[in-house]
Amino acid sequence: MVHITENNYRERILEYYDNVAPEYGVKHGADMAGGRYGFGELYKKVLAPYFSPGDKVLELGCGNGASSEMLASYGVDLTATDISDEMVKIAQSRDIPNTKFLRLDAMELGKTEGIGKFDVITAFNSFAYYPAKARVLRELRSHLNENGRLVILDMNALCPVYPISAWIGRLEMSSWWTTTKEMTPSGIRRLCSENGYRMVRLETLNFVPHAVEGAVFQVLKAVNPLLNSTPLVKKLAMRVLIVAEPLPE
Ligand SMILES: C[S@@+](CC[C@H](N)C(=O)[O-])C[C@H]1O[C@@H](n2cnc3c(N)ncnc32)[C@H](O)[C@@H]1O
Repeated sequence: MVHITENNYRERILEYYDNVAPEYGVKHGADMAGGRYGFGELYKKVLAPYFSPGDKVLELGCGNGASSEMLASYGVDLTATDISDEMVKIAQSRDIPNTKFLRLDAMELGKTEGIGKFDVITAFNSFAYYPAKARVLRELRSHLNENGRLVILDMNALCPVYPISAWIGRLEMSSWWTTTKEMTPSGIRRLCSENGYRMVRLETLNFVPHAVEGAVFQVLKAVNPLLNSTPLVKKLAMRVLIVAEPLPE
Protein backbone atom coordinates (compact mmCIF):
# COMPACT_ATOMS: atom_id res chain seq x y z
CA MET A 1 0.00 0.00 0.00
CA VAL A 2 1.29 3.51 -0.87
CA HIS A 3 1.96 5.61 2.22
CA ILE A 4 0.50 9.07 1.53
CA THR A 5 2.51 12.00 2.87
CA GLU A 6 2.24 15.77 2.40
CA ASN A 7 5.09 15.46 -0.12
CA ASN A 8 3.63 12.84 -2.46
CA TYR A 9 -0.03 13.84 -1.92
CA ARG A 10 -0.52 16.21 -4.85
CA GLU A 11 1.06 13.88 -7.38
CA ARG A 12 -0.91 10.85 -6.13
CA ILE A 13 -4.31 12.58 -5.99
CA LEU A 14 -3.90 14.08 -9.46
CA GLU A 15 -2.76 10.76 -10.87
CA TYR A 16 -6.03 9.24 -9.64
CA TYR A 17 -8.58 12.05 -10.19
CA ASP A 18 -7.29 13.47 -13.51
CA ASN A 19 -7.63 9.95 -14.92
CA VAL A 20 -10.97 8.99 -13.38
CA ALA A 21 -12.60 12.38 -14.22
CA PRO A 22 -14.46 11.37 -17.44
CA GLU A 23 -16.08 8.37 -15.74
CA TYR A 24 -16.30 9.76 -12.17
CA GLY A 25 -20.11 10.18 -12.21
CA VAL A 26 -20.54 6.44 -12.75
CA LYS A 27 -17.41 4.93 -11.18
CA HIS A 28 -17.96 6.80 -7.88
CA GLY A 29 -21.72 6.95 -8.43
CA ALA A 30 -22.25 10.71 -7.99
CA ASP A 31 -24.59 10.62 -11.01
CA MET A 32 -26.15 7.22 -10.28
CA ALA A 33 -29.40 6.62 -8.37
CA GLY A 34 -27.57 6.42 -4.99
CA GLY A 35 -25.65 9.64 -5.63
CA ARG A 36 -28.74 11.48 -6.89
CA TYR A 37 -30.62 10.36 -3.78
CA GLY A 38 -27.77 11.65 -1.55
CA PHE A 39 -27.28 15.06 -3.16
CA GLY A 40 -30.84 15.53 -4.41
CA GLU A 41 -32.75 14.32 -1.36
CA LEU A 42 -31.06 13.15 1.83
CA TYR A 43 -28.05 15.46 2.22
CA LYS A 44 -29.94 18.31 0.59
CA LYS A 45 -32.56 18.16 3.35
CA VAL A 46 -30.14 17.51 6.25
CA LEU A 47 -27.78 20.34 5.20
CA ALA A 48 -30.43 22.93 4.31
CA PRO A 49 -30.39 24.66 7.76
CA TYR A 50 -26.72 25.61 7.27
CA PHE A 51 -27.15 27.61 4.02
CA SER A 52 -29.15 30.77 3.31
CA PRO A 53 -29.83 32.38 -0.07
CA GLY A 54 -27.03 34.82 -0.93
CA ASP A 55 -24.43 33.20 1.39
CA LYS A 56 -20.89 33.28 0.00
CA VAL A 57 -19.89 29.63 -0.13
CA LEU A 58 -16.51 28.04 -0.92
CA GLU A 59 -16.61 24.37 -1.93
CA LEU A 60 -13.35 22.39 -1.64
CA GLY A 61 -13.06 19.30 -3.86
CA CYS A 62 -16.15 19.91 -6.01
CA GLY A 63 -15.37 16.90 -8.23
CA ASN A 64 -17.67 16.63 -11.24
CA GLY A 65 -20.08 19.22 -9.80
CA ALA A 66 -22.81 16.88 -8.47
CA SER A 67 -22.33 18.29 -4.95
CA SER A 68 -22.02 21.85 -6.36
CA GLU A 69 -25.44 21.46 -7.97
CA MET A 70 -26.91 20.67 -4.57
CA LEU A 71 -25.23 23.74 -3.01
CA ALA A 72 -26.36 26.04 -5.83
CA SER A 73 -29.94 24.87 -5.28
CA TYR A 74 -29.87 26.72 -1.90
CA GLY A 75 -29.53 30.01 -3.83
CA VAL A 76 -25.98 30.69 -2.58
CA ASP A 77 -23.14 32.53 -4.32
CA LEU A 78 -20.84 29.54 -4.91
CA THR A 79 -17.12 29.29 -5.62
CA ALA A 80 -16.57 25.61 -6.44
CA THR A 81 -12.95 24.45 -6.49
CA ASP A 82 -10.94 21.29 -7.05
CA ILE A 83 -7.26 20.36 -7.24
CA SER A 84 -7.86 18.50 -10.53
CA ASP A 85 -8.17 20.54 -13.74
CA GLU A 86 -9.95 17.60 -15.38
CA MET A 87 -12.60 17.48 -12.64
CA VAL A 88 -13.07 21.28 -12.79
CA LYS A 89 -13.61 21.11 -16.59
CA ILE A 90 -16.32 18.48 -16.17
CA ALA A 91 -18.00 20.36 -13.31
CA GLN A 92 -17.97 23.56 -15.40
CA SER A 93 -19.81 21.80 -18.22
CA ARG A 94 -22.85 21.30 -15.90
CA ASP A 95 -23.68 25.03 -16.28
CA ILE A 96 -24.63 25.54 -12.63
CA PRO A 97 -26.24 28.95 -11.82
CA ASN A 98 -24.45 31.50 -9.55
CA THR A 99 -21.32 29.35 -9.52
CA LYS A 100 -17.76 30.06 -10.51
CA PHE A 101 -15.20 27.29 -10.77
CA LEU A 102 -11.51 27.49 -9.90
CA ARG A 103 -8.61 25.08 -9.68
CA LEU A 104 -7.51 25.22 -6.03
CA ASP A 105 -5.56 22.90 -3.76
CA ALA A 106 -7.20 22.90 -0.31
CA MET A 107 -3.82 21.96 1.16
CA GLU A 108 -2.33 25.21 -0.19
CA LEU A 109 -4.90 27.63 1.25
CA GLY A 110 -2.26 29.21 3.46
CA LYS A 111 -0.42 30.33 0.29
CA THR A 112 -3.56 31.31 -1.63
CA GLU A 113 -3.92 35.09 -1.89
CA GLY A 114 -7.09 36.89 -2.84
CA ILE A 115 -9.66 34.11 -2.58
CA GLY A 116 -11.39 36.13 0.15
CA LYS A 117 -13.71 35.22 2.98
CA PHE A 118 -16.85 33.10 3.01
CA ASP A 119 -19.96 32.53 5.11
CA VAL A 120 -19.70 28.76 4.66
CA ILE A 121 -16.77 26.56 3.58
CA THR A 122 -17.77 23.07 2.51
CA ALA A 123 -16.03 19.87 1.49
CA PHE A 124 -17.98 16.80 0.37
CA ASN A 125 -16.04 13.56 0.13
CA SER A 126 -12.74 15.44 -0.17
CA PHE A 127 -11.46 16.37 3.34
CA ALA A 128 -10.81 12.68 4.20
CA TYR A 129 -8.00 12.60 1.64
CA TYR A 130 -5.97 15.48 3.09
CA PRO A 131 -2.91 14.24 4.98
CA ALA A 132 -2.58 17.59 6.84
CA LYS A 133 -6.13 17.93 8.17
CA ALA A 134 -5.10 19.94 11.25
CA ARG A 135 -3.21 22.52 9.17
CA VAL A 136 -6.08 22.81 6.66
CA LEU A 137 -8.56 23.41 9.50
CA ARG A 138 -6.34 26.15 10.97
CA GLU A 139 -5.89 27.82 7.56
CA LEU A 140 -9.63 27.71 6.81
CA ARG A 141 -10.31 29.89 9.87
CA SER A 142 -8.83 32.95 8.12
CA HIS A 143 -11.16 32.40 5.13
CA LEU A 144 -14.34 32.39 7.23
CA ASN A 145 -16.41 35.51 7.89
CA GLU A 146 -17.51 36.29 11.42
CA ASN A 147 -20.32 33.79 12.21
CA GLY A 148 -19.03 31.63 9.34
CA ARG A 149 -19.05 27.84 9.52
CA LEU A 150 -17.53 24.69 8.10
CA VAL A 151 -19.81 22.01 6.65
CA ILE A 152 -17.97 18.77 5.87
CA LEU A 153 -19.56 15.54 4.71
CA ASP A 154 -17.26 12.61 4.17
CA MET A 155 -16.51 8.92 4.62
CA ASN A 156 -17.11 7.62 8.14
CA ALA A 157 -14.02 5.56 8.96
CA LEU A 158 -16.15 3.37 11.29
CA CYS A 159 -18.09 2.09 8.25
CA PRO A 160 -16.57 -1.33 7.44
CA VAL A 161 -16.93 -0.76 3.66
CA TYR A 162 -13.83 1.48 3.55
CA PRO A 163 -11.22 -0.68 5.30
CA ILE A 164 -12.57 -3.71 3.38
CA SER A 165 -12.30 -1.76 0.09
CA ALA A 166 -8.74 -0.78 1.01
CA TRP A 167 -7.90 -4.38 1.85
CA ILE A 168 -9.23 -5.79 -1.44
CA GLY A 169 -7.76 -2.86 -3.45
CA ARG A 170 -11.08 -1.43 -4.68
CA LEU A 171 -11.25 2.02 -6.29
CA GLU A 172 -8.78 4.47 -4.77
CA MET A 173 -9.21 3.23 -1.19
CA SER A 174 -6.07 1.05 -1.25
CA SER A 175 -3.98 4.26 -1.38
CA TRP A 176 -6.22 6.51 0.66
CA TRP A 177 -7.12 4.47 3.73
CA THR A 178 -4.03 5.93 5.44
CA THR A 179 -5.68 9.37 5.46
CA THR A 180 -9.33 8.24 5.54
CA LYS A 181 -8.92 6.25 8.75
CA GLU A 182 -8.67 9.57 10.64
CA MET A 183 -12.37 10.24 9.90
CA THR A 184 -13.92 8.64 12.99
CA PRO A 185 -16.40 10.85 14.89
CA SER A 186 -14.15 10.88 17.98
CA GLY A 187 -11.06 11.69 15.87
CA ILE A 188 -12.90 14.53 14.14
CA ARG A 189 -14.17 15.95 17.43
CA ARG A 190 -10.60 16.05 18.76
CA LEU A 191 -9.18 17.48 15.51
CA CYS A 192 -11.74 20.30 15.49
CA SER A 193 -11.36 21.22 19.14
CA GLU A 194 -7.52 21.15 18.94
CA ASN A 195 -7.60 23.46 15.92
CA GLY A 196 -9.97 26.14 17.16
CA TYR A 197 -13.52 24.99 16.32
CA ARG A 198 -16.71 24.46 18.29
CA MET A 199 -18.74 21.49 17.11
CA VAL A 200 -22.29 22.42 16.07
CA ARG A 201 -23.25 18.99 14.70
CA LEU A 202 -21.45 15.68 14.36
CA GLU A 203 -23.48 12.79 13.05
CA THR A 204 -23.00 9.60 11.04
CA LEU A 205 -25.64 8.91 8.39
CA ASN A 206 -26.67 7.12 5.21
CA PHE A 207 -26.45 3.46 4.21
CA VAL A 208 -27.10 4.01 0.50
CA PRO A 209 -23.81 4.00 -1.45
CA HIS A 210 -23.64 6.43 -4.34
CA ALA A 211 -22.79 3.72 -6.89
CA VAL A 212 -26.06 1.75 -6.78
CA GLU A 213 -28.99 1.60 -9.18
CA GLY A 214 -32.24 -0.34 -9.71
CA ALA A 215 -33.57 -2.86 -7.18
CA VAL A 216 -30.51 -2.65 -4.91
CA PHE A 217 -30.98 1.10 -4.68
CA GLN A 218 -34.72 0.77 -3.98
CA VAL A 219 -34.18 -1.76 -1.17
CA LEU A 220 -31.38 0.27 0.47
CA LYS A 221 -33.37 3.49 0.19
CA ALA A 222 -36.37 1.77 1.83
CA VAL A 223 -34.35 0.45 4.82
CA ASN A 224 -32.19 3.58 5.18
CA PRO A 225 -34.52 5.47 7.58
CA LEU A 226 -34.71 2.44 9.89
CA LEU A 227 -30.92 1.93 9.89
CA ASN A 228 -30.35 5.65 10.52
CA SER A 229 -32.68 5.61 13.50
CA THR A 230 -31.09 2.56 15.15
CA PRO A 231 -28.37 4.03 17.41
CA LEU A 232 -25.70 1.29 17.35
CA VAL A 233 -26.15 0.61 13.61
CA LYS A 234 -26.11 4.34 12.80
CA LYS A 235 -22.51 4.55 14.09
CA LEU A 236 -21.47 2.40 11.10
CA ALA A 237 -23.18 4.55 8.43
CA MET A 238 -21.24 5.49 5.28
CA ARG A 239 -20.91 9.22 5.88
CA VAL A 240 -20.05 11.56 8.71
CA LEU A 241 -21.47 15.09 8.79
CA ILE A 242 -19.51 17.82 10.56
CA VAL A 243 -20.76 21.35 11.16
CA ALA A 244 -18.28 23.47 13.12
CA GLU A 245 -17.74 27.14 13.92
CA PRO A 246 -14.40 28.82 14.67
CA LEU A 247 -13.88 29.74 18.31
CA PRO A 248 -12.89 33.38 18.91
CA GLU A 249 -9.06 33.89 18.73
C1 LIG B 1 -14.53 11.68 -4.09
S1 LIG B 1 -14.39 13.18 -5.00
C2 LIG B 1 -15.75 14.13 -4.38
C3 LIG B 1 -16.31 15.06 -5.41
C4 LIG B 1 -17.64 15.70 -5.04
N1 LIG B 1 -17.51 16.66 -3.95
C5 LIG B 1 -18.65 14.63 -4.67
O1 LIG B 1 -18.98 14.50 -3.47
O2 LIG B 1 -19.10 13.91 -5.58
C6 LIG B 1 -13.00 13.96 -4.24
C7 LIG B 1 -12.59 15.23 -4.94
O3 LIG B 1 -11.69 15.94 -4.07
C8 LIG B 1 -10.67 16.49 -4.88
N2 LIG B 1 -9.51 16.77 -4.02
C9 LIG B 1 -8.74 15.89 -3.37
N3 LIG B 1 -7.77 16.54 -2.71
C10 LIG B 1 -7.96 17.85 -2.92
C11 LIG B 1 -7.29 19.04 -2.48
N4 LIG B 1 -6.21 18.99 -1.73
N5 LIG B 1 -7.78 20.22 -2.88
C12 LIG B 1 -8.88 20.29 -3.67
N6 LIG B 1 -9.53 19.21 -4.14
C13 LIG B 1 -9.09 18.01 -3.75
C14 LIG B 1 -10.41 15.42 -5.94
O4 LIG B 1 -9.72 15.93 -7.06
C15 LIG B 1 -11.83 14.96 -6.24
O5 LIG B 1 -12.41 15.68 -7.28
